[in-house]
Amino acid sequence: FFFVVMSAEARRGRNKRRSAKGLADWYVSHCKGARPAPNLRKIPMSEVMEHNTEESFWMVLKGAVYDITAFQHYHPGGVEIMLPVAGADGTSLFNQYHKWVNEESLLQACLLGYVVKDDPDKAKTAPAFLAKSMGEVQVTTASAPLKPTAPAAMSPAQWKDFRVLKKTYVTHDTQTFRLQVPNDVTPHFPVCGHIKIAATTEDGERICRSYTPIATGPGWFDVMVKVYPEGQVSQYIHTMDVGDILQCKGPYLGEFEYEPNQYTRYGLLAAGTGITPFVGLITTLLQEITVPQVELIFCNKSEKDILMPRELADWTAEHKSFAVHHILSEPECPSELVMRGHINKTQLLGYLPKPGEKMKVLVCGPPGFIKHCIPLLEELGYTEEMYTALQG
Ligand SMILES: Cc1cc2nc3c(=O)[nH]c(=O)nc-3n(C[C@H](O)[C@H](O)[C@H](O)COP(=O)(O)OP(=O)(O)OC[C@H]3O[C@@H](n4cnc5c(N)ncnc54)[C@H](O)[C@@H]3O)c2cc1C
Ligand code: HEM
Repeated sequence: FFFVVMSAEARRGRNKRRSAKGLADWYVSHCKGARPAPNLRKIPMSEVMEHNTEESFWMVLKGAVYDITAFQHYHPGGVEIMLPVAGADGTSLFNQYHKWVNEESLLQACLLGYVVKDDPDKAKTAPAFLAKSMGEVQVTTASAPLKPTAPAAMSPAQWKDFRVLKKTYVTHDTQTFRLQVPNDVTPHFPVCGHIKIAATTEDGERICRSYTPIATGPGWFDVMVKVYPEGQVSQYIHTMDVGDILQCKGPYLGEFEYEPNQYTRYGLLAAGTGITPFVGLITTLLQEITVPQVELIFCNKSEKDILMPRELADWTAEHKSFAVHHILSEPECPSELVMRGHINKTQLLGYLPKPGEKMKVLVCGPPGFIKHCIPLLEELGYTEEMYTALQG
């Protein structure tokens, strides 16, 4: 423990920028002679989730619930980096950065109790098509039907108007747009399927691109759109305000048609918004009767570009059969535990299911990412039946 304090303090100058106080101060004020609170209790996850702000900041680590509202200001890594797991299970993220840190000893004074699953009876009364709110991004967790059942409001053959109900920033350059579906219909989208959204240029020309709905509910669906500096359609969508109309067509099946219990092992390679088709796939796979092993390798430029870090951390904590491995090309907080650079053969070898039967590798991301990954997969012995690139 002292080694950790010393090494953090040695880097104090660098850390000052992010945390006003040092770990040694924390140790003196909160650890020396601290004893666990006498009335530790079982805390439902739903209660933890309510404490997701800097004003009331709870975090689950290895099953224990800590109130780190006071500690956050002493954290050598700063407050911001922990916020994605405020009111959530931070174990996976914590281990990614510093498995060696002894949180039990450091956070003894912050221990509230131990997390328990929510009352199962409550879950039974929840609507069949359950949409689970997870901070900024809402992910629809019920499995979508195998074939698209396009509501009358949406057609693969015809452009239709959808009003923007809400828009929310999820990262510095990505927003989710909630689009209204008439008559409170809940649209069903195929797993890994997509829709097209159109933009009209100054010359009146209609151009369109593909987007993957990530959540649905009665009378709405959400798409998450990253803006590209020169991107025609993504720029157009980002200029939309609540009440504006977007034209959409679909849904369409992608290159990969999901069938339950088809594979026992999945390797998912995603870059940037390439994660979107995998959101529905992962939530669907994790509900299969025999849950397959799912390894997600998620490539981004830096920490701030990672979409849905909280959901990914929660899925990792909740499901033994799911794991996420982050690769950052330009990390802001380099760490031995987050892989750095561009995806390479060693990482694929380490994390993907080995070539064989009942396994599938799916690749989704910008064209350059797909071009980079496919030759690597082929060199490693994955044949065309074993992998699919989702390109729309
Ligand atoms: C099946 C499918 C599903 C998709 N789902 C989503 C989604 O849910 N959310 C989302 O934000 N996007 C998604 N995309 C990407 C989306 O369709 C567009 O390619 C993206 O919004 C850029 O379009 P644009 O018109 O703004 O850029 P363009 O005008 O086409 O391109 C402008 C510039 O941006 C670069 N560029 C274009 N696309 C990308 C990219 N994907 N990555 C990096 N650079 C790029 C081009 O090289 C060019 O320099 C999906 C794509 C497919 C094929
Ligand atoms: C789960 C969210 C967390 C993230 C993403 C995170 C991230 C980081 C990062 C990036 C650093 C390096 C800072 C630097 O050297 O400049 C760091 C250091 C540290 N963090 Fe965290 N942290 C998290 C939670 C916690 C918690 C809850 C504790 C309390 C036990 C903690 C204790 C420490 C300690 C002791 C160090 C110094 C470690 C060392 O120097 O080896 N962290 N953290």
